[in-house]
Amino acid sequence: MMDHDAKIFVAGHRGLLGSAIVRALRIAGFMNLITRSRDQLDLRDNGAVRVLFERERPDYVFLAAARVGGILANGTLPVEFLVENLAIQNSVLIAACDTQVKKLLFLGSSCIYPRMAPQPIREEYLLTGPLEPSNRAYALAKIAGIELCNACRSEYGSNFISVMPTNLYGPDDNFDLTTSHVLPALLRKIHIAKMRADTTVSVWGTGTPRREFLHVTDAADACLFLMNHYDSAEIVNVGTGEEITIGDLAQSIAEIVGYNGEIVYDTSRPDGTPRKVLDVSRLIGLGWRPCIALKAGIARVYQEVDKSAWLDPGSRPSQQGNSAFDATQNDPDLSLHGAACLPDSDRYRRERNPIQVSP
Ligand SMILES: NC(=O)c1ccc[n+]([C@@H]2O[C@H](COP(=O)([O-])OP(=O)(O)OC[C@H]3O[C@@H](n4cnc5c(N)ncnc54)[C@H](OP(=O)(O)O)[C@@H]3O)[C@@H](O)[C@H]2O)c1
Repeated sequence: MMDHDAKIFVAGHRGLLGSAIVRALRIAGFMNLITRSRDQLDLRDNGAVRVLFERERPDYVFLAAARVGGILANGTLPVEFLVENLAIQNSVLIAACDTQVKKLLFLGSSCIYPRMAPQPIREEYLLTGPLEPSNRAYALAKIAGIELCNACRSEYGSNFISVMPTNLYGPDDNFDLTTSHVLPALLRKIHIAKMRADTTVSVWGTGTPRREFLHVTDAADACLFLMNHYDSAEIVNVGTGEEITIGDLAQSIAEIVGYNGEIVYDTSRPDGTPRKVLDVSRLIGLGWRPCIALKAGIARVYQEVDKSAWLDPGSRPSQQGNSAFDATQNDPDLSLHGAACLPDSDRYRRERNPIQVSP
């Protein structure tokens, strides 16, 4: 268990998940946090990263910095996704290993699993088949990160754990239509369609792929839980275990936004993996449960996010300052759940039940 005086480095603290981890840590009473923006420290620079670790000597590290993007960005920038992610994780993991941090949590992704993995996807399906081509570079970098965590563990005794979240969403998401993931892209597109009174809105692909989504506050809560309660080399899936088709997701978003036009499918665009839902029984078995239902979570994001620049196709309202909240404020989702949902509350974990996805 992390003690409340522990020095904790959150790498990528301005990102979707990193900012939620900072909020969760603060709410749980951890105040000795180290953060560096990209301007202050380029995590690809292993010399600069080593200086930070030698100077600050963090006890715990959450590695939430990465080059992250949706299907279009992954498909068009494979060099960047491979090289930047390898560079970030190599420099942080080696510095953490050399300076003997007590524990590090590495964030991988559900993209690491084979394209045609049996569903729901269990952790042991890693490296059992070919990857989805559209994000293979990103996936291979993440797989290399898992391997490096375990190599540091076996060679140097480092307590590094690897966590594989499903698709995340939240108020600090990237809403840039060229680089964002499917949920924020749909939210922005459908909002624009409503504001312009368009009679149709186009959704990429056939609408049939099945996906799983986790609110970033739940994801951050799971990260704290695993940092406190999990010490194994085996990777851990983090998700809801619930799935929804892209078509049903678009319909739900239309209801939240209040858009009454028709959703049409652009089948010239790729679908990606046909079905992707994680088996979360390892995490559930450890005693953690998600608590934010999908529709309530999306409605909350839609309410929180600054939509003022969304109609401008050239604007890039994204992570920094996009939300009405930032990492220094209290968790905006507390009002959804009340005190019982305070991160890392054992009472909450024992008592709460998973909330079903309501398409
Ligand atoms: N989002 C998802 O759906 C999802 C799903 C599964 C796994 N994950 C994993 O979860 C982690 C966090 O994802 P996220 O969605 O929070 O990503 P994000 O919002 O894009 O945030 C990534 C953060 O990393 C920082 N960063 C990137 N390159 C950097 C560099 N060279 N030096 C310093 N900082 C750098 C970014 O800084 P700037 O703010 O300066 O850009 C940003 O703060 C990643 O490892 C990702 O692979 C995410």
